[in-house]
Amino acid sequence: QNARDSLYIILNYAKNYFQQQLQQHEEGQAIGLSYFKERGFSKNILDKFELGYSLEQWDGFTKSALAKGYSADIIEKAGLLIHKEGSRTAGYDRFRGRVIFPIHSVAGKVIAFGARILKADKSQPKYLNSPETEVYHKGDVLYGVFQAKNTIRQQDACYLVEGYTDVLSLHQAGIENVVASSGTALTVEQIKLIARFTSNITILYDGDIAGVKAALRGLDLVLEEGLNVNVVLFPDGDDPDSYVRKVGAEAFKTYIQNASQDFIAFKTKTLLQEAGTDPFKRAEVISEMVQSIVKIPDAIKRQVFFQRTAEMMQVDEQMLISEGNKVIRKQQ
Ligand code: GTP
Ligand code: MN
Ligand code: MN
Ligand code: MN
Ligand code: MN
Repeated sequence: QNARDSLYIILNYAKNYFQQQLQQHEEGQAIGLSYFKERGFSKNILDKFELGYSLEQWDGFTKSALAKGYSADIIEKAGLLIHKEGSRTAGYDRFRGRVIFPIHSVAGKVIAFGARILKADKSQPKYLNSPETEVYHKGDVLYGVFQAKNTIRQQDACYLVEGYTDVLSLHQAGIENVVASSGTALTVEQIKLIARFTSNITILYDGDIAGVKAALRGLDLVLEEGLNVNVVLFPDGDDPDSYVRKVGAEAFKTYIQNASQDFIAFKTKTLLQEAGTDPFKRAEVISEMVQSIVKIPDAIKRQVFFQRTAEMMQVDEQMLISEGNKVIRKQQ
């Protein structure tokens, strides 16, 4: 048994512990379960994602794990215990008084946790995450990939959202091919992970400036990996979770069909809006678009996208292509 295996074991123990606190403990039921209920999550979703609750205690989990025979060292290495160097006490639990979202590997092992406070509190981050550990590298993982992978394969398509609760709400609405980047910038590893199951990604980011910016940043990376990417924007202030709750599952599905734009349309519109009427800024948009298109590995797709951009920007296609060739020559 190696070091990684013992981490998986303690993480699985922790997942069961938090789940039990949510379902059976008085505090977990009164605070955690009612929180999930208020947000409208069904028992089925709580079970499918193995959601849990951590008590408002300094070291409730640690004490329980120590009593089971886990060492303080392994609890700390799993990211569950915060131990101050030099302190004579074992330390305190990382997650306290929060609802818990276990993060699974593609194969379904629990490798980390996300944890949300229940009430707005400016002195604390809304979400806390496990630190990087021997089994958890944030940039390699997508939340929900284990629960989504079969449907992603079947539908040959994957929705990418920002948050944990977006994943839960879409599953509840019957959309099961969805993963979350968990609010961080998308990485190449995460895109390669999706690419194992499909080459079609639709980005469903929050309808705020941060969401649009994040979607723009994600685009080029996805294109470089040779995947097809579409974008859906939500009304400002909404995210997939709030929107599906507002309009219901059927209207939500219709919305994402109608509002889905290919990357050319999305990027051109967004950049042109930013540029306003300034002719120099509009010229820069053309150059930005060209930079994106040359990243697409497939020559035929590149050709199609040059055509689309030329149409949208009302410029000459040959001009775009020769700009593209310049960029490529510079890179070589
Ligand atoms: P709800 O408020 O529960 O609906 O969450 P949300 O997912 O809509 O939150 P938001 O859109 O603000 O953020 C998207 C994702 O970014 C979250 O699901 C988290 O994964 C991550 N995130 C948000 N806030 C924090 C934070 O304070 N710390 C960390 N580490 N991650 C965060
Ligand atoms: Mn230590
Ligand atoms: Mn947001
Ligand atoms: Mn959100
Ligand atoms: Mn939300």
